[in-house]
Amino acid sequence: MSSYGRFPAFEKTPEIPMNILGIETSCDETAAAVVENGTRVRSSVVASQVAVHHAYGGVVPELAARKHIENICIVVERAVAEAGMQPGDVDGVAATRGPGLVGALLVGFSFAKAFSYGRGIPWIGVDHLQGHLNSVFLADKTPSFPFVALLVSGGHTAVYHVTSHTRARLMGQTRDDAAGEAFDKVAKMLDLGYPGGVAISRMAERGDPGRIKFPRAWLDKNGFAFSFSGLKTAVKRYVETHDDYRWHMADIAAGFEAAVVDVLCYKLLNAAEETGCRDIAIVGGVAANRRLRENVSQAAAEGGFALHVPHISLCGDNAAMIAATGYHYLSDPDGPRGSLGDDVYSRAPLCL
Ligand code: KG4
Ligand code: ZN
Repeated sequence: MSSYGRFPAFEKTPEIPMNILGIETSCDETAAAVVENGTRVRSSVVASQVAVHHAYGGVVPELAARKHIENICIVVERAVAEAGMQPGDVDGVAATRGPGLVGALLVGFSFAKAFSYGRGIPWIGVDHLQGHLNSVFLADKTPSFPFVALLVSGGHTAVYHVTSHTRARLMGQTRDDAAGEAFDKVAKMLDLGYPGGVAISRMAERGDPGRIKFPRAWLDKNGFAFSFSGLKTAVKRYVETHDDYRWHMADIAAGFEAAVVDVLCYKLLNAAEETGCRDIAIVGGVAANRRLRENVSQAAAEGGFALHVPHISLCGDNAAMIAATGYHYLSDPDGPRGSLGDDVYSRAPLCL
């Protein structure tokens, strides 16, 4: 196996742009993208499987993997074409290695191996969370290292001290549900469908965030741990004890959203104070939340911090962030390379 695992070195020539094909299949999005030099998105294609999983109220792992198999060739072909390129113009490939659903990950990961082997170009498996952290570099205004980042998605809620494109220190994370998971579960309680984040935030826009005061889980106020299960239970209890709750769904959504956002915002700003970083970032699917963006933006302005948030299209799962991350490994002549024996992983705390 190992003799097939060697790929040619990546020749980095500063004058010639490097185009990396990114592939992301960790959950229910089949995504491919081409990114030039880790910063310029030439194409980003995301095939959502929401319609497939909607009926089940959540992602069904086997269905997700089968759908990725159906979609992967079409999505990659489209990403290469939309970048104005031929497959032969791709200089390297990066695919998500984990964390995520193993069956789903294996589709994109194996595709990346085959693509690079067939074309004789280098490839690398990258961490999904590191991809989210690097998504802030796909914008005009980028942060300087070190910076602190709040990563809020359906599977993770954590604060990182980010020191380079490939290194980040985990400062704290959730002890139970991720913020996005809490949004999804509360949406289910309110019959708002799946995925719930967008539905809750839309509903919340019409509500009064102060009318129903849900608890804020500060835990240790100086620490960076989170917990959202108590808040979720509080919403459940409210719904169970108020027969007329359907009349004030917007207030419930707004009250819940405010309770999540207050804690996220406080802890991110506190992390910036503690580390002395002037640049802060919010990444992941929940970074698309308007209230979160507005509250952190206001707090950052008051505290003299520079806030970096990816474009809405790059908050949720996408392959541009994977390509951008892959670039930083592949453009280092001494950096790691993927080999054909590499396997995916379902969970791993990012602490590099
Ligand atoms: O990063 P992502 O696409 O996938 C994971 O890596 O988990 O994040 C998906 C999560 C879902 O839980 C979804 O409900 C949440 O992000 N989300 C939102 C919003 N848009 C997506 N949560 C709150 N407000 C939103 N606008
Ligand atoms: Zn994600």
